[in-house]
Amino acid sequence: MRRFLMKHFVTASYLAGVASCLLVAVPGTGLTSAKAGEAETIAELQKDGQKIFARCRSCHRVGPTARNLVGPSLNGIVDNTAGSSEGFRYSPAMIAKVEAEGLVWSEENLDAFLRKPKEFLPKTRMQFAGLRSEEDRAAIIAYLKSFDAEGNQTE
Ligand code: HEC
Repeated sequence: MRRFLMKHFVTASYLAGVASCLLVAVPGTGLTSAKAGEAETIAELQKDGQKIFARCRSCHRVGPTARNLVGPSLNGIVDNTAGSSEGFRYSPAMIAKVEAEGLVWSEENLDAFLRKPKEFLPKTRMQFAGLRSEEDRAAIIAYLKSFDAEGNQTE
């Protein structure tokens, strides 16, 4: 009987030990996955995108008062036909690509263009080296996607 109790005591304290290890390990795991960006919500992505947009603002605007500057207004750009901001003088390269392929700024095309504008569209007038980080591109696309054609933030 004593041996039986003893055995259970050992088992119980072993389990308690495992449980306390788990308690330590679980928040630890949560933190690691959050750091890896797995738990990033769309709202967080958009917020990051807003910060990254500082790199575009010398040439582009979004929002209700946005207009064409050095670059075209980017309201409603996601899933819109490229080269279609009224009154903006696009490069012959952009116009040719739109005419030849009916280029639409799908998220995929935007990602490729923003990675290396001159590779996606040689002779583009956009003087911008590109966004190397895939996360930065995803964030800026999420941010741009939140503006409709009138510049209202819908998401
Ligand atoms: C130095 C100025 C400049 C900067 C900085 C710049 N752009 Fe541009 N962008 C342009 C110009 C000029 C065009 C027109 C390109 C053409 O006609 O070949 C353009 C075109 C675009 C287009 C296509 C628009 C359309 O109507 O088809 C998108 C999308 C775009 N830029 C996004 C961005 C984003 C996002 C950033 C920041 C990460 C950025 N640009 C930074 C000048 C700039």
